[in-house]
Amino acid sequence: MRQTKIVLSDKEIPTKWYNIMADMPNLPKPPLHPATKQPIGPQDLLPIFPMALIEQEVSRERWIDIPEEVLDIYTLWRPSPLYRAHRLEKALGTPAKIYYKYEGVSPAGSHKPNTSIPQAYYNKKAGIKRIATETGAGQWGASMALAGKLFGLDVTVYMVKVSYDQKPYRRIQMETWGATVYASPSKVTNAGRKFLEVDPHNPGSLGLAISEAVEDAATHNDTNYSLGSVLNHVCMHQTVIGQEAKKQMEIAGDYPDIVIGCCGGGSNLAGISFPFLHDKINGKNLRVIAVEPASCPTLTKGEFRYDFGDVAGLTPYLSMYTLGHDFMPPGIHAGGLRYHGDSPLVSQLYHDKLIEARAYNQMPVFEAAVQFAGTEGIIPAPESAHAIRAAIDEALLCKQEGKQKTILFNLSGHGYLDLQAYADYHDGKLQDYEYPAEKIREALAKLPKI
Ligand SMILES: Cc1ncc(COP(=O)(O)O)c(C=O)c1O
Repeated sequence: MRQTKIVLSDKEIPTKWYNIMADMPNLPKPPLHPATKQPIGPQDLLPIFPMALIEQEVSRERWIDIPEEVLDIYTLWRPSPLYRAHRLEKALGTPAKIYYKYEGVSPAGSHKPNTSIPQAYYNKKAGIKRIATETGAGQWGASMALAGKLFGLDVTVYMVKVSYDQKPYRRIQMETWGATVYASPSKVTNAGRKFLEVDPHNPGSLGLAISEAVEDAATHNDTNYSLGSVLNHVCMHQTVIGQEAKKQMEIAGDYPDIVIGCCGGGSNLAGISFPFLHDKINGKNLRVIAVEPASCPTLTKGEFRYDFGDVAGLTPYLSMYTLGHDFMPPGIHAGGLRYHGDSPLVSQLYHDKLIEARAYNQMPVFEAAVQFAGTEGIIPAPESAHAIRAAIDEALLCKQEGKQKTILFNLSGHGYLDLQAYADYHDGKLQDYEYPAEKIREALAKLPKI
C-alpha cells in the first residue's frame, strides 16, 4: 500500500520555536513610535502586550523554548499530518510530487491556535483578565476565543463586518467558546464610531478592526491586545508547522524544491517556510512562494516602507510592504487575506529576494479549491486555496517541462465554515474584482513620510 499520510507521535512535537531573526541577512528596520517616529522600546508596548511576548518580539535567539503548558495543549492537534497528494497529482497528470501540511485539524480549523495558545498563556501569567482582538474571516477570533477559554481569560473580538455577515457560524463558534463578538466598525470604540459616522455601511477591514481592538486594550487596565499575524513572535510561534514538515518530508525520503503558503499577514507562510529558509540561507536550493489575492496585492503591488498596522494610526509604524493603511480591499471570500500590510519579516525576506510572491483572482482560486476537494477530499479554506492554486500551477508547469519537482504547500485551514463562499461560487455569484489601482494609489499617496 502506498503511503498517503505521514504522521508523527505526540513526543515529536517541536519543543522550541525557530526565530529566523538569528539567521536573516538583513533584519527589518525597527518599529517606530507613532508620535515621535523614534524606535519604540519595550515600555511603549507594555500597555497592550505582556513582557514575555515583547521579549520574543525583539529576541535574536535562534531557538526559544515552548512552555510545557503550551505543549500540553498543542497535543490536542499537533503534530498535524503531512499528506502526499497522490490523487491530485494523478488528476493533473503531473510528474511533480505534491505534499501538503494540514493545519485544519486544530479545534478552530486552522493554523491560528499555534499562536493563540502561547499568547493566552503569557497574558494569563502576566495577570491579564481580558484579551481584545480583531478577526477577518473569523479564524483568528475563534482561535483566541478557544485559547481564552482554556486559560480562563475573557475575550472580546472585533470581527470585520463583511465577514460577520458572510460567516455567521464563525461568530457562533466564538460565542460557544465564551467570547463577545462585535461587527467592526462597531459603536463601542471611538475608532468604530468615527468610521460609522462617515459611512454607516462601511464593510470594515482588518486594519480598522485592529484599531478598535488596540483602542479597547489601551483604555482598559486589565485588558491586553493580541494579534493573529504580522508580528515577529506570531510568525515564530507558527514555525512548529515547518519543523514538523521537515521531519515528515525526511521520513518520506523527500525535500521540497518549492514551498508555498497563502499570505495575508504572513504567519502561516512564515510557519511552513522559515525552517526551510534556514536551510536556504545556509546554501540549500529551494524556492518559497507567497500567494495573495489580486484584489489585495500587498507584496506584488505594494510599496516597501513604513506604515501603520491599522487604519486609525494607533499602532507603531512598521517597515513592511503596504497598500496604504486606509485601503479598503474588496469583499472577497478569503477574508483572512484582506490586509493592507504584511509581516515585517516576510516583507524583508521578499525585499531581499529570499521569497517570491504572486497574486490570483478569486475565480481561479475557487476552481483550484473545488479540484482539490474532488481529489483529496478536504474542502479548503478560501485563504488556503490560494496556496493550492499556486501548487497546481507549479505542478502543471512541471508537466509542461517534463520535470519531477517536489512541491510542499501549507493547507492552513478547512473551509467547512466557509461553505457560503462555495455556494456563491456554484451559483455563479462570485466575481473577480478589478485590481483596485486607483484606490491603492490614493491610499499610498496618504502614507506618512519618514
Ligand atoms: C485559514 C487561513 N489561512 C491563512 C490566513 C492568513 O493569515 P496569515 O497570512 O497570517 O497566515 C488566515 C487568516 O485569517 C486563515 O484563516
